[in-house]
Parts: sequence; C-alpha cells; structure tokens
Amino acid sequence: DSNDEASEGGGGGGGDLIKVGFAQTGSESGWRSANTESMKDAFSEENGFELVFNAADNDPAAQISAVRSFISQGVDAIVIAPIVEDGWDDVLQEAKDADIPVILEDRTVTSSDDLYNSWVGLDFKKEGTTAGEWAAENFKEPTKMVVLEGTTGSAPANDRAEGFDAAIEGSAIEKIDSQTGEFTRDGGKTVMEGFLQKYGADGIDLVYAHNDDMALGAIEAIEAAGATPGEDIKIVSIDAVKDGMQALVDGKINFIVECNPLLGEQAADLVKKVLDDQDVEKAYYVADQSFTKEQAAEVIDSRPY
Ligand code: AHR
Repeated sequence: DSNDEASEGGGGGGGDLIKVGFAQTGSESGWRSANTESMKDAFSEENGFELVFNAADNDPAAQISAVRSFISQGVDAIVIAPIVEDGWDDVLQEAKDADIPVILEDRTVTSSDDLYNSWVGLDFKKEGTTAGEWAAENFKEPTKMVVLEGTTGSAPANDRAEGFDAAIEGSAIEKIDSQTGEFTRDGGKTVMEGFLQKYGADGIDLVYAHNDDMALGAIEAIEAAGATPGEDIKIVSIDAVKDGMQALVDGKINFIVECNPLLGEQAADLVKKVLDDQDVEKAYYVADQSFTKEQAAEVIDSRPY
C-alpha cells in the first residue's frame, strides 16, 4: 500500500523485532496527532518493534485495505483505531484465520469480541454523559442547542451523542440541529457557519461539539458572525487538547471533558502480552477528567499534548 510508511530504519525485517501494522484513522484532529505520536513512541525499535504505519484519511474502505495489506505482509500483530464501528467482521476473520492477533485502540467495533484480542481506549458514552450533565446543570432557562457531530458511524460520535442526549433529557435544553463536522476544525467551522445563517447568532445559545477541533472551528464562525463565543453562544466540547484548553482558559469554550490520547504504551504492552500467550482482558478503559476554566488554567502548562 502506497500509504504505508515504514518506521525509522525499518523495512529490513529487523531480526528479533516484532513487526506491527498500525491502521490509524487519519490525521483529523489535534487529538489524533497526539495519539499517533504516542503510538509511534511506544512501537519504536528501541522497544523491540518494527512499525508499519498507515493513516487512512478517514476512509473506512482504505482502512480495511490497509489491514488486508498487513495480513498479506505477514506482520506479527495488527493494531487498529477503527474509523467506524461497523463492517469489520470479514477482515477481522481473515486476520484470525492467518493467526495474526489484533489489538484495537481508541475506537470500538460492533463485531463480536471473538474476532479480536483486546481493546484499549476511553469510555465515550461517559464523556458524553459528563458533558450533558454539565449542560443540564448550567442551563436552567429555555436553551437552543446545536450539535457538531464527529465522523458518522464512529464509536465516539455514536456514544457521545447517546450519553449526552440521555443526560439532558427533561432539561431546559432543546436540540434544534445536529450535523457532522467530521471531527475537523474546517468541518466544525463550515457546519457552524450554516447554523448561524439558518438560525442567526441570537437563535443559538449553546454548541455541543464532539471534539475540541470542531469547537475551535465554531469559535471562528461565531466571531466572524460578530458574536462572542463563550458568552453569547456557550460551548461544551470533548478532548482537552492544548488549543481547546487554551480556548477554555480564554473563556471562549465553557467546559471540556477530557479524552486521553496517550494509549501507545498500553497498546504496545497488550501486543507483547498477546504474542507471549499471556491472558488479557477484552477491554481496558483509560480514565478521563473534565475541566472548567479555572481547572484548565491550573493544569494547562503541565499537560503533554
Ligand atoms: O476517537 C477519538 C476521537 O477521534 C477524538 O475525540 C477526536 O478528536 C478524534 O479525531
């Protein structure tokens, strides 16, 4: 696959190195950059790995092709950050038939858990619930909300919507519109521009963005429309990447729920354990926090991403 990129100094078969194919979603967000860096650091030659990295530009078919190419290359293990939840049965079965263990990181799939060895990631539904509880608590007057959804069919978009919607049920918040911004800054900006044209800045009180990058795009659109983000239109988002945290400190975002991208070490550890025939759980949840403006100001300088 022409998108494959061998790790530094890799490609030579590398003696005792464990050859791992990693099928990343793409490079849609600041979160994703931090996740890719964490994975490349953990799956380094120094740690005993030869990494074959593929980023599928958020195209589910391209990601499945990348996994198929890992299988035909005969890698020792495959790690996948699945773009979408559905459609994995066939290729996971092919990896199983080829005796290649599969570890999922970050996002989940709807396939039976017999088809992969383990998963490490975040509780996306809980992230949505935490964001929704904050909103229900802070908006007691009738509130018009728009939603910037993540990639359609992805586990974080599905679960963050579900958790949030349940948490605001019976509250003063009315969801007037919801559309995907593909987890990107440009996507968030474009969708928000559309919402502002349709409802006017006065017709929107709250934005729920499934990630910080879309919130940052929405901020640009709100400012361009002559309104003040964080005041005229409040914003709640998920991730807690550096730029999002800075916007929170600056008062342009009002609340952020964290999604920790530093999953590399755990994923690498799982690959080694599975290849070593050690027992592993099917799912490992990494803990998340959440931040108000004051809490963000305290920690922003000490955060690694
Ligand atoms: O799967 C995690 C999500 O993917 C992050 O919240 C988002 O920023 C990323 O693109």
